[in-house]
Amino acid sequence: MSTPRQPEAATASEAVFKRSVNVDGELPEVHGPDFDKPVSLDDLLHSFATTGFQATGISRAIDVINRMIKWRLSDDPPEEDESEHYLDPAIRAQTRCKVFMGFTSNMISSGVRDVLRFLAQHRYVDCLVTTAGGIEEDLIKCLGATYVADFDLPGAGLREKGLNRIGNLLVPNDNYCRFQEWIDPLLTKMLEEQVKEGTLWSPSRVIARLGKEINDERSVLYWCWKNDIPVFCPALTDGSLGDMIFFHSFHHPGLVIDLVSDIRALNRLSYDCKKAGMVILGGGVCKHHVANALLMRNGADFSVYVNTAQEFDGSDAGARPDEAVSWGKIRGDAEAVKVYADATVAFPLIVAGTWAKSTDSPLRHTRTG
Ligand SMILES: NC(=O)c1ccc[n+]([C@@H]2O[C@H](COP(=O)([O-])OP(=O)(O)OC[C@H]3O[C@@H](n4cnc5c(N)ncnc54)[C@H](O)[C@@H]3O)[C@@H](O)[C@H]2O)c1
Repeated sequence: MSTPRQPEAATASEAVFKRSVNVDGELPEVHGPDFDKPVSLDDLLHSFATTGFQATGISRAIDVINRMIKWRLSDDPPEEDESEHYLDPAIRAQTRCKVFMGFTSNMISSGVRDVLRFLAQHRYVDCLVTTAGGIEEDLIKCLGATYVADFDLPGAGLREKGLNRIGNLLVPNDNYCRFQEWIDPLLTKMLEEQVKEGTLWSPSRVIARLGKEINDERSVLYWCWKNDIPVFCPALTDGSLGDMIFFHSFHHPGLVIDLVSDIRALNRLSYDCKKAGMVILGGGVCKHHVANALLMRNGADFSVYVNTAQEFDGSDAGARPDEAVSWGKIRGDAEAVKVYADATVAFPLIVAGTWAKSTDSPLRHTRTG
């Protein structure tokens, strides 16, 4: 029987002390913030670049969005088949990258709603895509408050008290009763306009009308209506809004909400733009709906994902930007980053390093009535 051979000391030492190639000057050195000096928000964000892990992800997202903000068509030479319109240097200097912003419903449940309100108020985004909760909770928050509580409050006790839990937030059920009282007559008016004036309602038209009617500066949808920013929600009925439309349909049947005009409007926005950037908070419908629209122009030029989903299960939610490149939804030469983080932490920091510092609002006009 032979005894196992111990590695020779020389071999072990060679393995342990293997020499490296020199990357000095080629890669940044890891450093975090130095709290021995006063550290401003800007300093902190700056330090993220060299902190590593998701701090560096946030820093890269800030770089990608700042490039989206700065880009003008005049930065690029005219295409061979450029139209007369886009040959005009003044038009080229004003033509910006269109920003397609997608987010899950819970962003509106949380304080990220206020960040999205800021972006809509200053018209920093060109369209929003969300799910039903992202529409109704923006309106409901104008009618009653959402509260900060705990993740571990027992469901049965909350149900008895009529308190609905979203993570560590609570929404009193009374808010939904107020929502029903507010929206029911509006649905009747929309139905009347459909019957008498032939209005064809699409989710984005319904949402714009609700934004106008809520008439409240705390609302994302109010600013989207005011600044002509379309808000798309292909699954408009998967939430309290669907419940309201369902109940309304018994006493006033016949309201039609057309999805086709919205997919036409969203896809047109995509293929009409010269440069496109997407910023997606969370996954699911909001992520794929934006990416699919950008396929119409052979992909986004800039892309920022912020989500907690993983790719091992093959979910679209977890897919990294490179999977979207394979489908033509992000261009092969695009600047793309995925930040693996809770968007309630990451997104306010990203906005602090980008749009919040911008002195150049693309606001062109606001509606007056
Ligand atoms: N407040 C609500 O969340 C709410 C309210 C009413 C209805 N709904 C309905 O529930 C359905 C599912 O909601 P959804 O499609 O908006 O998304 P979702 O809540 O199912 O989230 C989809 C994925 O996004 C990622 N994600 C979610 N929150 C995140 C965060 N804070 N940070 C980073 N990543 C995050 C996760 O990977 C998650 O699996 C929709 O039809 C919606 O209308 C939701």
